[in-house]
Amino acid sequence: MRTQVAIIGGGPAGLLLSHLLHLQGIDSVVLESRDRDYVEHRQRAGMLEQGTTDALRDSGVGERLDREGLVHHGLELRFGGAGHRIPLTGLTGRTVTVYAQTEIVKDLVARRLADGGDIRFEAEVVDLDASAPRVTYRGGGETRTLDCDYIAGCDGFHGVSRPAVPGLRTFSRDYPFAWLGILAGVRPSTEELIYASHDRGFALHSLRSPTVSRLYLQVPPDEDIAAWPDARIWDELAARFATGDGWKLHEGPVTDKAITPMRSFVAEPMRHDRLFLAGDAGHIVPPTGAKGLNLAVSDVIILARALTERYATGSETLLDGYSDACLRRVWRAEHFSYWMTTLLHVDPAATAFERRLQRAHLDYVASSEAAATSLAENYVGLPIE
Ligand code: APR
Ligand code: PHB
Repeated sequence: MRTQVAIIGGGPAGLLLSHLLHLQGIDSVVLESRDRDYVEHRQRAGMLEQGTTDALRDSGVGERLDREGLVHHGLELRFGGAGHRIPLTGLTGRTVTVYAQTEIVKDLVARRLADGGDIRFEAEVVDLDASAPRVTYRGGGETRTLDCDYIAGCDGFHGVSRPAVPGLRTFSRDYPFAWLGILAGVRPSTEELIYASHDRGFALHSLRSPTVSRLYLQVPPDEDIAAWPDARIWDELAARFATGDGWKLHEGPVTDKAITPMRSFVAEPMRHDRLFLAGDAGHIVPPTGAKGLNLAVSDVIILARALTERYATGSETLLDGYSDACLRRVWRAEHFSYWMTTLLHVDPAATAFERRLQRAHLDYVASSEAAATSLAENYVGLPIE
């Protein structure tokens, strides 16, 4: 069996890459270890930069996104019992869109299948050869090989692609906290997202639709979810979001509950021979600011352009520049996610001095147009080169 590009992983990165290549007449096969239902229902951050929305729309998969996505023009920083609005659009001329990753994955799977695309679910890659190049996968009780021109490693943080890059240099930071996230069947208590910094810890009020709220609480990194019955979650959220003006948090049935660790991670380079890493396979950001999906999208846009050039002209110039081009953007987002995380969370080891500095920084971002603009331009996303 043979294809032009073997794509390992059917998350947002692998699926979008397959779609972008198809638009350029390039064949691919997506090998995904999980089943379709699993990848279509995995809960992740759902905030799209304008560049991500544009890319989905321009490639013809934005129809439902345009109908159901919620366009946001600002966000709220809440601390000291009061809210401070950051007018994202006023400061940058750009917007962000709330649209769940589950829906992006559903749209991409549907589109690939409608276009005759080859997505193999429950096909786990067990070996790859970046020089042949070739991937070996297991599915339906059999082991098969797929020969190709290039391999795209879009298999997330725990995949097999990254370990196949020899001489990799990695950079990482683990944070002394995690996020407990819930989905709740209740009308959001806010129109714009609220990022709350409180002495009890960070909280985020996001949303999924006019009837579904998405909320997060900072918890200790090794926290047992059993310690968080629904009533405790609502009490804690109410305490961290409390303001002096009678603002009320709407409570409702919790339909999903999970704890996510917080990590920053970058692997360099993102290429070895004919293997290219993209998305979470190459880098992880903490979820504050929701850069993960947006980085996965910019990686595969850069990779699709490079492969298009290669097949159209034979030139490998863009492929040779792939890792550097991605890493410039990755490191900017790494810094922003780290910055926003440390600005808003309570580090249990922080000294009183450090807590006062953090508060001074929050006051500065909330009161200085220059500081707020810096947050805003990173939040709405810097242009893809
Ligand atoms: N063989 C085949 N598929 C694999 C293998 C393997 N050996 N290992 C992992 N996979 C699959 C996983 O099951 C998963 O569906 O690769 C896919 C990787 O998808 P994601 O984890 O969603 O990663 P990515 O597509 O890069 O998307 C990045 O995900 O974690 C979030 O916040 C992050 O939004 C960002 C997005
Ligand atoms: C989300 O809606 O899941 C979300 C939004 C913004 C973030 C993180 C997560 O910064």
